[in-house]
Amino acid sequence: MAPDWTIRAMRSEDVVAVSAIERDSFSDPWPDSAFQELLTVANRVTLVAIDPEDRLAGYLCAQSVADEIQIQNLAVATGLRRRGCADRLLGSIEAEGMKCGAAYAILDVRETNVAALTLYLGMGYRVIGRRRGYYRKPPGDALVLSKSLTRSGVDQARMEMSNGMVS
Ligand SMILES: CC(C)(COP(=O)(O)OP(=O)(O)OC[C@H]1O[C@@H](n2cnc3c(N)ncnc32)[C@H](O)[C@@H]1OP(=O)(O)O)[C@@H](O)C(=O)NCCC(=O)NCCS
Repeated sequence: MAPDWTIRAMRSEDVVAVSAIERDSFSDPWPDSAFQELLTVANRVTLVAIDPEDRLAGYLCAQSVADEIQIQNLAVATGLRRRGCADRLLGSIEAEGMKCGAAYAILDVRETNVAALTLYLGMGYRVIGRRRGYYRKPPGDALVLSKSLTRSGVDQARMEMSNGMVS
């Protein structure tokens, strides 16, 4: 059963744990200073997930630009994956975006990242483009994924999923 995650805003004292997860999760991790800086920028939303044993399990960083929520970073501690943590973090940022009137959530993902792609497609994101050579270490393309956050867009995506139109 999925733990009862607590989702809250990232705080300065979380950055050590967040950075440790970041280094374990990515071949080209953000430096600690990038997370500290994010906490001071007005249009950024940074969330963390805390498990029932008070462990910081995962985080999500996003920014709000015009009518978009741009998801910039998401990772979960290796020992706490496949328990619905990323699902909850994404659901929370989408809900936050909808409250603020955002029309879309948008993100980039390495095209070989099966775990993340499965997660996003399962949550109703669709591939809308490709950025060639977007990643270094190792070099690779990014797929651009988007999800409508408007009521009509969400209903349309649900209908397509139930009709088997979304792969
Ligand atoms: C991608 C990542 C964030 C997923 O976090 P998570 O908390 O394990 O994901 P969830 O438990 O919420 O998974 C939800 C669904 O996503 C899919 N999924 C997650 N991990 C998967 C994997 N390794 N393989 C296949 N599908 C996977 C499944 O459909 C899963 O549902 P299920 O467990 O009921 O089958 C995590 O693997 C991670 O931190 N990876 C390294 C960093 C990264 O790649 N971040 C994304 C950058 S774009």
